[in-house]
Amino acid sequence: MRTPIIAGNWKLNKTISESVALTTSLKASVADVNNVEIIVAPPFTALAAVNEVIAGSKIRLSAQDVYSEDSGAFTGEVSAPMLKDVGCEYVIIGHSERRQYFGETNESVNQKVKAALAHDLKPILCVGEQLQEREAGQTETIIEDHVTGGIAGLSSTELLSCVIAYEPVWAIGTGKTATPAQAQEVHSFIRGLLTKIYSADVASQLCIQYGGSVKPENASELMAQPDVDGALVGGASLEAESFAQIVKFG
Ligand code: PGA
Repeated sequence: MRTPIIAGNWKLNKTISESVALTTSLKASVADVNNVEIIVAPPFTALAAVNEVIAGSKIRLSAQDVYSEDSGAFTGEVSAPMLKDVGCEYVIIGHSERRQYFGETNESVNQKVKAALAHDLKPILCVGEQLQEREAGQTETIIEDHVTGGIAGLSSTELLSCVIAYEPVWAIGTGKTATPAQAQEVHSFIRGLLTKIYSADVASQLCIQYGGSVKPENASELMAQPDVDGALVGGASLEAESFAQIVKFG
């Protein structure tokens, strides 16, 4: 019922020419894929060039962040209307690296989610606990805080334009993937939370991605979990071949 969404988060990697080469090769590798939404999130500087390469393909464009204001004296920021203008359909918001290194809070995340939605951009809202939080038994508290904070004030229609990405911080870039059971446990907790806040019908329609060391070798077992509807892929999205293998997880 839920179309799987596989997104590649390139983070602070790839020049324009490298981005074009990667996208060109990815486009050829996934040309025959039909039942999966494929997204790439290059750095801001490569968005325009990548948008040209994906024209006419099924690959969708995402940014890695957005500012909450549309325009003004905010040196260094990029707004939702600008991302729409360059061809983005999605935007990653609240990635743990932004929370950790750039002071992102639930409040700023929520403002960015609303700004994105106001301009018809689909937020990929990232949530996830740190290792010490998991070890202290606080996983559900943290996830509830990130989810409810990030989506505060959204109507059910707005919520359904979002994707939630569960990314345990201890699994990001570490090679330590959550087990399929650990991922399923949190995904089902998130869906339960959305059932309480909205309804079972709304919760059942929302795509919840897993992120954190997703590789071709573990994608299919993660995706086989009933509440895992996609993947947000970092390292393995930097090579066309490994990302294409994840896209073809089935
Ligand atoms: P990783 O990153 O796949 O390199 O662990 C995932 C992410 O941060 O989105």
